[in-house]
Parts: sequence; C-alpha cells; structure tokens
Amino acid sequence: MTEPTDYASLQRQLAALLDTRDWLTNAAQTSAFLIESLGDLNWVGFYLQRQPDTLILGPFQGKPACNPIPFSRGVCGAAARHRETQRVDDVHAVADHIACDADSRSELVIPIVIEGHLWGVLDIDSPQPSRFNAEDQAGIERLCETFIHASDFD
Ligand code: SME
Repeated sequence: MTEPTDYASLQRQLAALLDTRDWLTNAAQTSAFLIESLGDLNWVGFYLQRQPDTLILGPFQGKPACNPIPFSRGVCGAAARHRETQRVDDVHAVADHIACDADSRSELVIPIVIEGHLWGVLDIDSPQPSRFNAEDQAGIERLCETFIHASDFD
C-alpha cells in the first residue's frame, strides 16, 4: 500500500519556497512544486479570472491547455461558478468535462477566493482514476492557502 502524502511537510516546504510576494512567481513555483512533489499527475496549473465569467490560462506544468474556459463549462467552470472544490474520480463520467489532455482520468479543481472575490482556480489532473481522496483534497486546499498567504495580488 502507498504511504499517505505528508501534506504538513509539503506545506512547510512550499512556504519556504515562496519567498517573494509576487503572485505570478509564486503561482509558477507552486505548479512546479506540486507536479514534482505529488505522484501520478499529468497537469497542474492555474486559471485566472481576468474577464467576467471567464477563466484564462495562467502558470502551469504539462501539455498546452484549453483557453479560455467560460464559467458555464467543464470542471473548472463548475469550481468557479459554485466556488466549491470539484473532485472528479472519473472525468469520462462528467458530460461537460473539457478534455485538454486525453491522458487525464481524474481531476481536482480548487477555487481561489481572495477577500471575497474569485481570483481563479488551481486545476490538477491525473492519468490515474480516483487519484484524489478526501485527505488529498484537504491537503491540497491547505497548500492553496499557503500560496494565498504568501502572495500579494495587487
Ligand atoms: N479538464 C478541465 C479543463 C482544463 S484542463 O484539464 C487543463 C475542465 O473540464 O474544466
């Protein structure tokens, strides 16, 4: 059986890595850190809300991805619309899943809300079905908090 991920340790490492207040640098570092630190991922990145009801591709690791994504579509759109984490065990079972990379089988999308405004989402894809359990969701949500606290969004 695989050891559970030590998210407390990852949180300390990420906090140490994010030693600038610049959100752009920190978003790039966070996506690189996550794809290197967590196993079985094929895409990690941020989509930013820079236009009304639309997500624009931000810093990421993986294959070139779909852009833009309207709030009305896909797993990322649902996370933005509802401001709730979307954890999908099998993306093939989601009718409006947007397939950027045919290898993706499960997905976790976490909304990033700064002072009551949706700033964007963190999207993580895995080629393994059911890659993310409730502990992964809680741990990665805490890593998003670390990213938010480390960054200035002006
Ligand atoms: N699968 C996402 C689109 C983004 S890519 O996975 C990078 C979705 O359905 O919203």
